Amino acid sequence: MNYSQSKIWWKEAVVYQIYPRSFMDSNHDGIGDLRGIISRLDYLKKLGVDVIWLSPVYQSPNDDNGYDISDYRAIMKEFGTMEDFDEMLEQIHARGMRLVMDLVVNHTSDEHAWFVESRKSEDNPYRDYYFWREGREGKAPNNWGSCFSGSAWKYDETTDMYYLHLFSEKQPDLNWDNPKVREEVFDMMDWWCRKGIDGFRMDVISFISKEKGLPDGYQYPDSLYGIPRSVNGPHVHEYLQEMNSKVLSRYDLMTVGECSGVTIDEAKKYASADGKELSMVFQFEHVGLDDGPYGKWTDRRMELDAFRKVMSKWQTELQDVAWNSLFLGNHDQPRSLSRFGNDAPKYRQACAKMLATCIHMMQGTPYIYQGEELGMTNCPFDSLEELRDIESINAFHELTAAGKVSEQDMMRYINMRGRDTARTPMQWDSTANAGFTDGTPWIKVNPNYTEINAKSQMEDPDSVFCYYQQLIRLRKQEPVIVYGTYELLEPDHESLYVYTRTLEEDKILVVCSFSEREVVYMLPEEFRRGKVLLGNVRTGISAEEMSLCLKPYEALVIKK
Ligand code: GLC
Ligand code: CA
Repeated sequence: MNYSQSKIWWKEAVVYQIYPRSFMDSNHDGIGDLRGIISRLDYLKKLGVDVIWLSPVYQSPNDDNGYDISDYRAIMKEFGTMEDFDEMLEQIHARGMRLVMDLVVNHTSDEHAWFVESRKSEDNPYRDYYFWREGREGKAPNNWGSCFSGSAWKYDETTDMYYLHLFSEKQPDLNWDNPKVREEVFDMMDWWCRKGIDGFRMDVISFISKEKGLPDGYQYPDSLYGIPRSVNGPHVHEYLQEMNSKVLSRYDLMTVGECSGVTIDEAKKYASADGKELSMVFQFEHVGLDDGPYGKWTDRRMELDAFRKVMSKWQTELQDVAWNSLFLGNHDQPRSLSRFGNDAPKYRQACAKMLATCIHMMQGTPYIYQGEELGMTNCPFDSLEELRDIESINAFHELTAAGKVSEQDMMRYINMRGRDTARTPMQWDSTANAGFTDGTPWIKVNPNYTEINAKSQMEDPDSVFCYYQQLIRLRKQEPVIVYGTYELLEPDHESLYVYTRTLEEDKILVVCSFSEREVVYMLPEEFRRGKVLLGNVRTGISAEEMSLCLKPYEALVIKK
């Protein structure tokens, strides 16, 4: 049997990502927390998901909402206590679900004990846990830019040297070339595994191995800094194999690497069938297709053709050799409905279901980002003061100050692509603050919560929520959805994304219309007597129907 067909639990799973700060507040302080999550586990069970991926809940000064960790073995005070965590884990398991923790080990917080020590002196035992370098003619040691604007180097007076931070100044990069760093990280991971967690989502894990000597990176003519030479670096696979043999292989885990910059060839190594590294990776090619000259800060829209080509490439090239993760959104991306589809009230319900069908019927493990199952849309922000995300705020200042983008354009870009668009509170019901909190929420609530919320959708069989329930259920009933081979049909169609999945005698056809107009589609011969497994418009086709007039954003899954 080939790798794509070998049975593993995480291939059959649907993952739900919780962004804890915005999921559910239990104690009126306007910040989501662990007890809030516990109170909503029945909701997730009802949705039908198998695995919860929890964005970081470790102790953190919250410069980057928990992705800057100051203690890996403690829970962030705002989120609760370790007892709350233990209870949450127990309650998740009691419902037959599993928990995957975020693992942020490319960097720590500058308030982590290791860094506090490291910065003290050049001969401190922790010095070499991070990257310290002397300046180059009074400037940064190299031209690398931070992902959050500015140089990737911060000058520190204590020793008159600079330290490396690929993200914010408060997120110094760990030096993975130091075996002591690896030991500490592996120990900590083992500690969480012994608690009984079920896996890790590894934050920017493709960045952990920096190129030797930290040479300058390529600099685009229009950009202020060079690209850090840290993506898929020289030792990354070696380090992950070490992690795997020392920790991962000793437990039954699901692991997913956040691998920005990953190519197909690299993915085959990270997520190889021999299981020596990770279960799967997040690739980012499809969420970079609408980038412009300033990266994500643009109002470009995704084109169906480009999206279809990239998705199909990953589907076919990883077939039999590695496993895909399937996602359209997460806490770093805009709302998938607003970005890939049409969030106008007239279309949003149909379109959210269509996008879900398109992604969930592919080969790989699907991820749902909180609120996506309700068709939540990008939250509009009117001013800089309303924003909370360090990436957007820094980029606003950098690009407007450099005279590259006007303030007005930048606000528009942030409203389309900024991370806060998708970080607003989960919309539970139509009461104040969408039922998320009875305090003051840490970030604004999307004003459309009176129309889009969980409570009303759970009562409505036509809702996006109920459609996701059906999609998830279908996956459990039809092995072809998990294990079938992918084939693209109609590769050049203007508005349809059509593909099949095949497993021995079983074959399904997936038709997704990305158009707000009606589109006529000729059904392939073998599906004309088929059975509609799921659809957001029709629930059946008449016997031997040859051509279908698809409604705007119609999706259809037909079994031969
Ligand atoms: C990852 C996280 C993102 C975070 C960054 C730095 O990309 O998903 O939220 O800001 O890493 O940790
Ligand atoms: Ca709270």
